[in-house]
Amino acid sequence: MSETDTPPSSKVIRNDPWYGSYAARAEAMRASEIRALFAVASRPEVVSLAGGMPYLEYMPFKELSELIAKMMVDKGDVAWQYGSAQGDPHLREDVLQIMELEGITDAQPDDVVITNGSQNALDLITRIMCDPGDVVLSEAPNYVGALGAFQSFQVEVVNVMLDENGLIPESFEQTIVEQRKLGKKVKFLYTVPNFHNPAGVTLSVERRPRILEIARKYHVLIVEDNPYGLLGFNGQTYPAMRSMDNQNVVYMSSFSKIIAPGMRIAWMIAPPGIRQKLVLANEASVLCPPNMSQFTIATYLDNFDWKKQINDYRGMYKERCDTMDAALHEYLPYCSWHKPKGGFYIWLKIPEGLDSRAMLPRAVTAKVAYVAGTGFYTNGEGRDHMRLSFCYPTPDRIHEGVRRLAGVIDAERETTELFGTSGVPDSDPRDPEYPGPQVR
Ligand SMILES: Cc1ncc(COP(=O)(O)O)c(C=O)c1O
Repeated sequence: MSETDTPPSSKVIRNDPWYGSYAARAEAMRASEIRALFAVASRPEVVSLAGGMPYLEYMPFKELSELIAKMMVDKGDVAWQYGSAQGDPHLREDVLQIMELEGITDAQPDDVVITNGSQNALDLITRIMCDPGDVVLSEAPNYVGALGAFQSFQVEVVNVMLDENGLIPESFEQTIVEQRKLGKKVKFLYTVPNFHNPAGVTLSVERRPRILEIARKYHVLIVEDNPYGLLGFNGQTYPAMRSMDNQNVVYMSSFSKIIAPGMRIAWMIAPPGIRQKLVLANEASVLCPPNMSQFTIATYLDNFDWKKQINDYRGMYKERCDTMDAALHEYLPYCSWHKPKGGFYIWLKIPEGLDSRAMLPRAVTAKVAYVAGTGFYTNGEGRDHMRLSFCYPTPDRIHEGVRRLAGVIDAERETTELFGTSGVPDSDPRDPEYPGPQVR
């Protein structure tokens, strides 16, 4: 450390003898918003409305494991071997049928790149498109996995506004113009059009062509992230933006929510130039996605009625969403939220003056957990919101969780009314101790 460097706090030195040696990009990496509370929040007595874990009840584990055991013997020489950086050709063919459900009918297996979850896909697209200081436009509140990927490449994330019909086209255009005036390079728009995490909203079908038009006008790439598109409660799907434009969109989806996340398999489709770079970046990053996981997913798709299973999941998540919505009406009628038509999340606005982040330890003490809204922004915004997930707890637990949450919010309101504050000092998101985003 040179004499002009700011000395790190003694606490940091004690914890980490490598402080001062890290690359600048590591500085932007943040710990989990709920990591400190996670050990407590994951105790069985706590109702966790925090995580975005799919409920895997409908997975035919027993039958599937028998087929996987056979596959591991029959195709052992390939399944246990290195594979192609672009992914297994058979699985690349399989994903075409899934994308057809959302109107993508022109893709070929060669357009597809298989990745280790969408997280890897987000890493790859940022890696090949962005230099430090470049701008990525992203809907706010943001998906935290994407924020983590962007920040690790020292990208500047600039928020574009959402409403109940999804991304606002005028806000998209205005933000491009503003950023260009500032001399910034806007590299892409990152958008989750269907059943947004965490906002729960879906981009209206009318807005989709308009957003593509703006993207083409300003030559800004669209990164369309669609892990929830098949989880619409009434079975409705929406046309992917990629189905309307195959030159200006990089599309990604994942098996995490429609089958299971443990295999870590997702995919992207991209125009040829971008796709070639993605394959090279994948090779440099992980060499190849694991054959074993890809073959397992393909075994599932080839042998089970996956459309029926997705339909069963829809019914289950619908019941859970309805339960949460009804419990919110019963216990927290003074809060506001948009009831989603699919996906996993409700984005709850809490009363003026309350701070979801400051309140979280008290909620965990009351045996309920959520993710504070601040986790979905990079600038400390979001204290007036929290994300509630209805995907994993059973309906009874969801009802009980909301009842407990209402107890905490009611008490907090009383304190605020009496003293004008919830009594917790504000904290600065630039503080190194600030537990920034990194939740699912
Ligand atoms: C918006 C969004 N994209 C992608 C993913 C899936 O990520 P992965 O495929 O890495 O499990 C999630 C999971 O929470 C998500 O909410």
